This record gives sequence, C-alpha cells and structure tokens, in this order.
Amino acid sequence: MVHEVRGVVARGKGQPVSLETVLVPDPGPGEALVQVKACGVCHTDLHYREGGINDEFPFLLGHEAAGVVESVGDGVTHVAPGDVVVLNWRAVCGQCRACKRGRPWYCFATHNATQPMTLADGTRLSPALGIGAFAEKTLVAAGQCTRVDPAADPAAAGLLGCGVMAGWGAAVNTAPVTQGDTVAVLGCGGVGDAAIAGALYAGARQVIAVDLDDRKLEWAKGFGATHTVNAGSTDVVAALRELTGGFGPDVVIDAVGRPETFRQAFDARDLAGVAVLVGVPNPTMTFEVPLIEVFGHGGALKSSWYGDCLPERDFPLLIDLWQQGRFPLDAFVSERIPLDGVEEAFHRMERGEVLRSVVVL
Ligand SMILES: NC(=O)c1ccc[n+]([C@@H]2O[C@H](COP(=O)([O-])OP(=O)(O)OC[C@H]3O[C@@H](n4cnc5c(N)ncnc54)[C@H](O)[C@@H]3O)[C@@H](O)[C@H]2O)c1
Ligand SMILES: [Zn+2]
Ligand SMILES: [Zn+2]
Repeated sequence: MVHEVRGVVARGKGQPVSLETVLVPDPGPGEALVQVKACGVCHTDLHYREGGINDEFPFLLGHEAAGVVESVGDGVTHVAPGDVVVLNWRAVCGQCRACKRGRPWYCFATHNATQPMTLADGTRLSPALGIGAFAEKTLVAAGQCTRVDPAADPAAAGLLGCGVMAGWGAAVNTAPVTQGDTVAVLGCGGVGDAAIAGALYAGARQVIAVDLDDRKLEWAKGFGATHTVNAGSTDVVAALRELTGGFGPDVVIDAVGRPETFRQAFDARDLAGVAVLVGVPNPTMTFEVPLIEVFGHGGALKSSWYGDCLPERDFPLLIDLWQQGRFPLDAFVSERIPLDGVEEAFHRMERGEVLRSVVVL
C-alpha cells in the first residue's frame, strides 16, 4: 500500500518551500513507517533549501522528529507498531571498519530506508538527512528509530534527533569537556545553546556564549552560560582571552560553521586547547592557516558529526535529565507551527527570533 500524505518540499535552490502530496510506501525489510508527531526546523533544512548541502533536489525537508511507529517491515525486532520514537540520522551499520573497531559513532555506512518516497508524479524525493519528517508520515530504516518515554512531549523530544544532540554531544562527546575546563561556544542557536548546557553538565567552570545578537546571548544564559560576548561589537579572540585569565578557553566550539568563526576558535583556545567544528560550512568555504601555527598551538581540531552520539545511549539519557529538571529541553521550543508554516519559520530563524520553531502534527 502507498500512503498519500502532505509534506514540505524544496524544489530548487533558494525557492520557497511548498506543501506537496508525497507518496510513502509501506515498509520493506529493515524499514519502519512512522507517523510524525512533531519536527523542529533546523538550520540544516535551510542549508538544503539554499543548495548548500548538495544538488539532489527536490528535497523532502525536516529531520528533527518524534513520532509513533505505524508499521515495520520484515526482520525488524527492536521497534514495533505503537512505539513512541525519536528519529536519528545516523543508524549505525555494525559492519564497517569504524563499527568493527568499536567506534560506532563514526560509522561510515549509516542506514536509511532503501525505498524512495516520491511526489505524486513519481519524482523521487531526497529526504533531508535520510529522514524527511516535515510530512504526516515518513519511511526510515528501523535503526533510525529510538524508543523514548511516551510521556515526553514530542515537540521537545524530537529536537534530540538533530540540533540539540549535535550541540550537547559536541561538548560532552567530541571535545570532550572535562571537569574544570573553560569553554566558549560561538553561535547560540539551538545547537550552540545545547553545547552550552552540555559543557555545564560535563563540569565546565566557565561557559562563555558568543553571538552577534543580544537576544540570543540573553537566552544562552538560561542554558547555563556564565559570561557572554557580543561578536558584533567586540574582538572575540581578545574578549575570550581576557575572560580566561589571558590564556583562552580550553575548548572553543564553533556552532556557526564559517571560516571567520572557525578562525576565532582556532586562535582563541589556550595552548593545547581544542577547537570543535559542529556548525556546517558550505562547500565553497575554505580555511587557511600557516602550518607552523597548527603545530605551535598544539591541541586538537575536531569535527563533530551529530555530536558523536549514540542515539540508543544518549536520547533516553537526555530525556531522563530533562524529566529530572537537569536539562531544559523544552526551552528550545520557541513556537509550535503547522506544516505549512516552514517557509515563514525559516525567515524567523534568519531574523534570530526563535531557537526552534517546531511543526506539530
Ligand atoms: N554537526 C552536526 O551534526 C550538526 C547538526 C545540526 C546542525 N548543525 C549546524 O549547526 C549550525 C547551527 O545550527 P542552529 O540550528 O543552531 O542555527 P541557528 O541559525 O539557530 O543559530 C546560529 C546562531 O549563530 C549566530 N551567528 C551567526 N554568525 C555568527 C558569528 N559570526 N559569530 C557569532 N555568532 C554568529 C546567529 O546569530 C545564531 O544565533 C548550522 O550550521 C547547522 O547546519 C550541525
Ligand atoms: Zn558502521
Ligand atoms: Zn538538524
């Protein structure tokens, strides 16, 4: 059976998204059909719309989602119809060289559904990050479903599916921040604020939030920032050094993903410090530094794919921390919008008015 649903599609570079009829097949072997309950609007969706990820238009956008499993294909045992799940975009394979070496968070062959979802005329859709959840139903690899407490509000829980997990994990898993570290986070959107909360959880003594927007800096304090720097009116590197006794933070997390912010992260960290790139650059951006500075500065430059998370380990952990009042997951939800509100939500994101707009179905 084919399910006819409504979904948000980006048809071409820079074109406003449109609500279209999407055809979703029943799950085949290893797949799950999920009724989407909520899906956050992430900056990565906008990157897709802008052609900044790849050119495989049309895209079915949306990838920060929670929902209910409607049906599963042959061989699926770890989730069943009725399960409340958060979707992840790195279902590890267990077979590749990274998985076999015991580093599944790096898996080089993550799984997605093998059957395509299409437009009504049969045009194959590229689901954002292999999910495509700005739709009433979506088809994913069963490994992309992680069961969570059904009592958790899906609008907040779904955010674990991407930005919040990526930011938290950049601090806790990738850096990793350890007890007593000084930390700076560049860019205080959903990803950056989650990195701030993660750094605090990991025992940072100081967490400095950096953004161009004073409103974002104010919100960052709510996630645990101890100091703030407005990058529009201050020399960021000098300010970070001054706030850390003249040395620079032990860890600087770039949650913007531009050459100028990564350069700040590279320069501002203390000797032997760590710079983590979790913001996603576009394919035209370059980063050039004298090699002697790489050597002379020491430490490490790391990228954080999805916060080096393991969904089965980390999603339930973050839900527990939230339910215990130790992590304000629901504070990322700025507004709840209908499926046809995504284009306007992109503009609100660009104007800095929201942390996350969440489509609720
Ligand atoms: N690595 C991953 O797995 C992963 C996962 C999700 C999102 N991302 C990426 O993380 C980035 C942030 O996503 P988001 O949803 O939080 O975006 P967002 O638009 O909500 O937030 C970005 C923030 O950066 C600020 N900013 C922009 N330029 C700046 C500058 N020069 N200096 C300081 N602050 C600046 C903006 O004011 C805004 O507050 C995006 O590039 C997104 O694609 C990465
Ligand atoms: Zn693997
Ligand atoms: Zn995302």
